[in-house]
Amino acid sequence: MRKKIIAGNWKMNMTPKEAVTFVDSIKNIIDTNDVDVVFCVPSIDIVPVGVALNGTKIALGAQNMYFEDSGAFTGEISPKMLKASDVKYVIIGHSERRAFFFEDNVIVNKKALKAISYGLIPIICVGESLKERENGVTLKLIDEQVREAFKDIPKDKASEVIIAYEPIWAIGTGKTATAKEADEVCGAIRKIIALLYDKETAEKIRIQYGGSVNAKNAAELFSMGNIDGGLVGGASLKMEFKDIVNYKK
Ligand code: PGA
Repeated sequence: MRKKIIAGNWKMNMTPKEAVTFVDSIKNIIDTNDVDVVFCVPSIDIVPVGVALNGTKIALGAQNMYFEDSGAFTGEISPKMLKASDVKYVIIGHSERRAFFFEDNVIVNKKALKAISYGLIPIICVGESLKERENGVTLKLIDEQVREAFKDIPKDKASEVIIAYEPIWAIGTGKTATAKEADEVCGAIRKIIALLYDKETAEKIRIQYGGSVNAKNAAELFSMGNIDGGLVGGASLKMEFKDIVNYKK
């Protein structure tokens, strides 16, 4: 049985002060008993949020990193820095990074490999645009994204990676994929992993759904056989996030 993993993706929100106030108000009312919970925060919030999360089971996540260890890469943050700041997870290849910062599958793969080499767990995002869905190329595109992202990732590491299926048309739009639509693609992703590795790896790997997850739709989405939790944007900035994590109650 795969343990659910629910991650908040704060995106470019929350000053360090706001972040600590929010974390302090929510950390003790989130029930982390049978679910992994992650706060993926802006780089500048990593250290103060890490301090605020001390003594809780909520894990610290980053939203991006560069694929080099250190050096002349102005403005970037390295996996070494993340690791040294107790970061456990790092989102790689979010559709906003692909769209606004021109990250392609090759970059996503480089970042994923580098993250793994530092013992960070990548949350690799994949997903189609509305046009791609309408043109019927969703599965072809996802197949490419997954295959290229996992290139050279060894089997023993692959099963620990998190995949987030986020249809771009559902992100921040209030339009959620139906639970059936989301489960179908997550199931297809699991099949790709089985082909790339084996059935055991595919059964182990955790696949999240992301795109307008909220307290109302979380239970239905997370009860689907292939959906192992969610990557939550907008609703992770509110107290509503507690109800998403504790969706069973
Ligand atoms: P949303 O964002 O929940 O605001 O749609 C999800 C994401 O981009 O990870």
